[in-house]
Amino acid sequence: MDADFFRKLPKVELHAHINGSISVSTMSQLVAGMSTSYNPDSLKFKKGETGTLKEVFKLFRQIHDVINNEKAVYKVTYDVIHEFAEENVKYIELRTTPREEPSTGMTTISYVETVLRAIDDCAKENLDIIVKLLLAVDRRQSLQVAMDTVQLAVKYREKSNGVIVGIDLSGDPKVGNADIFIPAFKEAQKHGLKLALHLAEVPAPEETITLLREIIPDRIGHGTCLQPDAGGTKDIVEFVESHRIPLELCLSSNIINMTVPGYDNHHFKFWYDLEHPCIICTDDKGVFSTSITEEYSIAADTFQLSSDQVWQLSYNSIDSIFSDETTKQLLREKWKTLKENLLLKS
Ligand code: IMP
Ligand code: ZN
Repeated sequence: MDADFFRKLPKVELHAHINGSISVSTMSQLVAGMSTSYNPDSLKFKKGETGTLKEVFKLFRQIHDVINNEKAVYKVTYDVIHEFAEENVKYIELRTTPREEPSTGMTTISYVETVLRAIDDCAKENLDIIVKLLLAVDRRQSLQVAMDTVQLAVKYREKSNGVIVGIDLSGDPKVGNADIFIPAFKEAQKHGLKLALHLAEVPAPEETITLLREIIPDRIGHGTCLQPDAGGTKDIVEFVESHRIPLELCLSSNIINMTVPGYDNHHFKFWYDLEHPCIICTDDKGVFSTSITEEYSIAADTFQLSSDQVWQLSYNSIDSIFSDETTKQLLREKWKTLKENLLLKS
């Protein structure tokens, strides 16, 4: 399997934060039009670099300083969709935290409307990619803000004809206690929104088991510390396994922010060996200088996957998307059409 194989492989991306996915090219264009001292190269980790969670989240604050108006939000969203489409991602669920910026007049409402407009404009171009959106709750926020985000998601799901499919929980895993958001997540579920929660990115067994039992999320982001040897518990593993809650696994992200010591130690192996639903994702392709193509390639190299296994990994991800059976079937057909060509050539 060469680089071409991984690029041509049809892929699903289910864990990509819009602002963390910004490419150097987009960042350079945005910075060029501003009176800012930010150097685009300093707003990401270069290959081989690592950083503490504190450093990672400082970067996000700086990126938000640049993407502080609707025009920039539009451009990032539009460019990120095109970049994933170029990598043969056929279905993507982007996620983003509605943000207001009084200095530019951007409100959480105009933020969401701008992201949806960019998604809609891409759809009009007939790119070969289906784009859905999750609205994110940041762990730093209050329950009231989380409730507002759920309301926004409900309102704009209707207005966008179903582009918004769910709610994400993210933000610095060392900040706050996610238990406080349980009423908001229950409200989201009441309205039929799906939940993809960053859980156990760092050891937090009590928070993790409480959220699992109270909410039963539809997918887990990272799940780095679910297993006992990583600071989780047997009960947590049993819960996740018995409910078959899919895991969104972002290898490079975890290595760079040092929540996993090395690719060989990544929990992908633990869950993959259990035949648990595992989805390869990028998290923040811009910040972590990676791509979905590279993440598949790294997974294959590290865990000695054959081309058939890589194809199956990508194909099985379709089962975990937050869309209806018709969309899943459409994607499965697409994968089957592309399969023969891809595997015969490799
Ligand atoms: P945005 O929501 O589109 O602005 O994307 C950036 C945001 O995503 C950050 O401010 C974090 O809240 C969240 N995020 C990105 N990567 C991670 C991660 O690895 N763990 C937790 N949250 C993250
Ligand atoms: Zn994430």
